Amino acid sequence: MRIQTPEEAFAEDLDRSLRPRTLADFVGQDGLKAQLQVSLEAAKARGEALDHVLLAGPPGLGKTSLAQILAAEMGVPFVQTAAPALERKADIAAFLSALEPRSVFFVDELHRLSRALEETFYPAMEDLQLPITLGQGAGARVTNLPLPPFTLVGATTRAGLLTTPLRDRFGIQHRLEPYDGPELTAIVHRSAHILGCEVQEAGASAIARRSRGTPRVANRLLKRVRDFAEVRGRGVVDAATADAALDLLQIDDLGLDRLDREILSAVCSKFGGGPVGLSTLAVTVGEEQDTIEDVYEPYLLQCGFLMRTPRGRVATAGAYAHLGLEAPEDPALF
Ligand SMILES: Nc1ncnc2c1ncn2[C@@H]1O[C@H](COP(=O)(O)OP(=O)(O)O)[C@@H](O)[C@H]1O
Ligand SMILES: [Mg+2]
Repeated sequence: MRIQTPEEAFAEDLDRSLRPRTLADFVGQDGLKAQLQVSLEAAKARGEALDHVLLAGPPGLGKTSLAQILAAEMGVPFVQTAAPALERKADIAAFLSALEPRSVFFVDELHRLSRALEETFYPAMEDLQLPITLGQGAGARVTNLPLPPFTLVGATTRAGLLTTPLRDRFGIQHRLEPYDGPELTAIVHRSAHILGCEVQEAGASAIARRSRGTPRVANRLLKRVRDFAEVRGRGVVDAATADAALDLLQIDDLGLDRLDREILSAVCSKFGGGPVGLSTLAVTVGEEQDTIEDVYEPYLLQCGFLMRTPRGRVATAGAYAHLGLEAPEDPALF
């Protein structure tokens, strides 16, 4: 496994302390919450495990939080792992056979599961059976290990990479969408309350506006703005403090940070507007391809600054305008 950077460790601590604990506490995603509420009540009334749940969507939208909430609402243990940590069939067997009945088994980054291991999950999810091979060579035989009823909650940033057979085995599937301004403002207020920090309405919406539709980003910015308010102001987060702090962090009006702008300006200036391949772009800005694709690109696409074409990424006229650059006469795109 990869070692966490200090920045990642900090983000995880912050996530943990600010994570909503109940469905009622979870802001937004109303359609999904309503659907889960019904499934939870039905499963509880029948004394069964909740259906398997697949949560898709970019990082920081609340997938892990929801998985934990499902376990809490069911009143069952929460056991978590991530697909890269599951290397062999025995790893899965160890987790599944040790589950208390009706537990939530959370597998993050599900799209990274190898094909062979994916198939191990099919009978486990459908029939609560885990086929295991005993012995070796000619004397080897396959026997089924019975499993306790459980709920697999899978999270993925790339639902498109999951195979259809795996996806089809989830009774509940949902894609989390970016949050709107009022929802993010509510999340900033909620987090400020937990952190014991005074935030004015205009301060909260200034942070929300630059949070790129993502609760985790809103929380991170709130922390930074709070530091600024304590050091440079009276500790109160108002609009002026939020704006000054975010300017200092080089986060612009739309919530783009330095790397977002570097990506855009690389496409615009170095590659003449594109198309440019993701791997070339990654090398140019010195960031990992996955990070660009999962974290940066979705928001740039959403802003309408970048487009995906079969030949690579292309900058739009909006991107040139946002960077204050003059768009070429004959951009590749138009
Ligand atoms: N709907 C929400 N309401 C309140 N806070 C949220 C919500 N979704 C996410 N968060 C906050 O964002 C942080 C990151 O969420 P997380 O569940 O870890 O996202 P993901 O697993 O999708 O990357 C959480 O710690 C929580 O504070
Ligand atoms: Mg997560």
